[in-house]
Amino acid sequence: MCGIVGFIGNNDAKQIILNGLTRLEYRGYDSAGLSLFNQRYQNFDIYKDEGRVQKLIDSTKNAAYSNVGIGHTRWATHGKVNKENSHPHYSQSRRFIIVHNGVIDNYQDLKSQYLSNANFSSDTDTEVIAQLIETFAQTLHVENAITTTLKLLHGSYALLVLDANDPEKIYAAKYKSPLIVGHGESGITIASDLMALIGYSDTYHALEDKTFVVARRDDVKIFNLDHQLIDAVFKPIEMDAADTTKGEFAHYMLKEIHEQPSVIRRIVGNYYDYDASTINPEIIKSMRASDRIYILAAGTSMHAGLIGKQLIEQLAEIPVEVHIASEFAYQMPLISKKPFFILVTQSGETADLRACLVLLKKYQYPTLTITNVATSTLAREASYNLEIFAGPEIAVASTKAYVAQVAVLAIVAFELSAKTFDIKDALTKAALSIEKFLSSEKMDDLVRNFLTRRNCFFIGRGLDYYVGLEAALKLKEISYIQTEGFAAGELKHGTIALIEDGTPVIALISNPEINGNTRSNLKEVQARGAYTFKIVTSDCAQPDDEVVLDQVHPLLTALVMVVPTQLLAYYAALDRSYDIDKPRNLAKSVTVE
Ligand code: M6R
Repeated sequence: MCGIVGFIGNNDAKQIILNGLTRLEYRGYDSAGLSLFNQRYQNFDIYKDEGRVQKLIDSTKNAAYSNVGIGHTRWATHGKVNKENSHPHYSQSRRFIIVHNGVIDNYQDLKSQYLSNANFSSDTDTEVIAQLIETFAQTLHVENAITTTLKLLHGSYALLVLDANDPEKIYAAKYKSPLIVGHGESGITIASDLMALIGYSDTYHALEDKTFVVARRDDVKIFNLDHQLIDAVFKPIEMDAADTTKGEFAHYMLKEIHEQPSVIRRIVGNYYDYDASTINPEIIKSMRASDRIYILAAGTSMHAGLIGKQLIEQLAEIPVEVHIASEFAYQMPLISKKPFFILVTQSGETADLRACLVLLKKYQYPTLTITNVATSTLAREASYNLEIFAGPEIAVASTKAYVAQVAVLAIVAFELSAKTFDIKDALTKAALSIEKFLSSEKMDDLVRNFLTRRNCFFIGRGLDYYVGLEAALKLKEISYIQTEGFAAGELKHGTIALIEDGTPVIALISNPEINGNTRSNLKEVQARGAYTFKIVTSDCAQPDDEVVLDQVHPLLTALVMVVPTQLLAYYAALDRSYDIDKPRNLAKSVTVE
């Protein structure tokens, strides 16, 4: 949540920061702001307002050319969405200018303890940091003033700080929120995500917690909070600029839905060398040695985890529990004697999961993250990490990451099992089935007929029920239609009371053994006026079914069944002219608890 970018070097800082903020807008879009050095007045100008990065691009058209600056795109936590609370924030004399991602839990205490005489111009926790640095800088060297401030902060932060008395430096620091330092010919870029560095940096270093950075035009030094120099390793950036554009598609979400077959193939390519799995054998050994596997995750990743539970239990016969991260962290259930923990997270930065990981590390339990971002905090802190190779997912509503998480969980389950079928072949067939559906889909026309109500239901049994949960999340996230995913057989135990004339009920059917049961449940809602719609695999198909997908391995149906539901959500939002890639109130990377 919140994206920050800073640049210092021999290039146009405004352009680099605005491009970076545009790429990071998925992290929050309540407001955007920028600070650039003004040679003429020898101080930092600040541009900020509520609204999107485009508004900032327009308002900074005539900004003075600068080689140094910092920018921010906000997902509001403390204080309303307005200009005053937008970043950058500044200290009382405007000497220190700061952008921040994270939450400072003790900001009110710090305010009363150290800043009772300071005038504040916002309601944010961030401004307290700027004011503290200024207060300490009255007696301390600026670097000490910053580290002294950092040591007082409780919570999370990724920070960039400018000092108007020394515009030849950007200071940065990180604790819990992500921050990456990039090094390129034209200078140093520091940002919340690697994506903002593409095109400007050749190498990067993902900062560790409690590090403090001093960046100059052609040099960057990284210290711990006691000012001891850290020998930071910079790795080459391998991401392609094309990964961050929409290409021929109208929206990132549509592009990412269409990328799913190639993502599955990439996963197969990365996890198999001919028939040999490339997964670190220690992971499989440690999982096999466990008496119970716990999958922790949030949102869409939790829905992928539910599919993972079925796959692991059926293939490997190890019991699996799935827990919502935000519940697990503060209401830890009774844990078995030899547990193994899988943390499923696209971003690898979700704060609720981080809270779980801190707890699990305390007990020294083995942990595996399944992430899309190998440089992420969770990927680095867990015992093991498996990448999902989905490529950057920019739309806030997750699609290809879900499919990739399910595919990787399927491989893990398979590697734990007696290997009675060909997983590579099964995954490749799933990719083909998705591809075939995408090449001829007519979801746009189908959706227009019936998604006209304020509410909607997805029903299914087994794996289809879990896909229904994900389908419902997707539809509500971007179309704002109140939707529930329901176990088909459970509807009649109460919720059927909500069915009225025209209420859309979408059935997901991919298991021939329970095909008849789900269809009976459809009849029950039809009898009460529901408008029904069926998404089925060919082995379950009947003449009037609206969407029929090629049959795939019975354990991999989630990979294909979810795709029409993603498009259904997409077109429902498109029909309503909503901002599909940036739905209201959301941010992609949820770095606050
Ligand atoms: O980065 P993570 O996978 O940990 O994120 C978890 C959820 O915040 C995320 O899946 C969210 O539910 C998406 N917006 C769903 O589309």
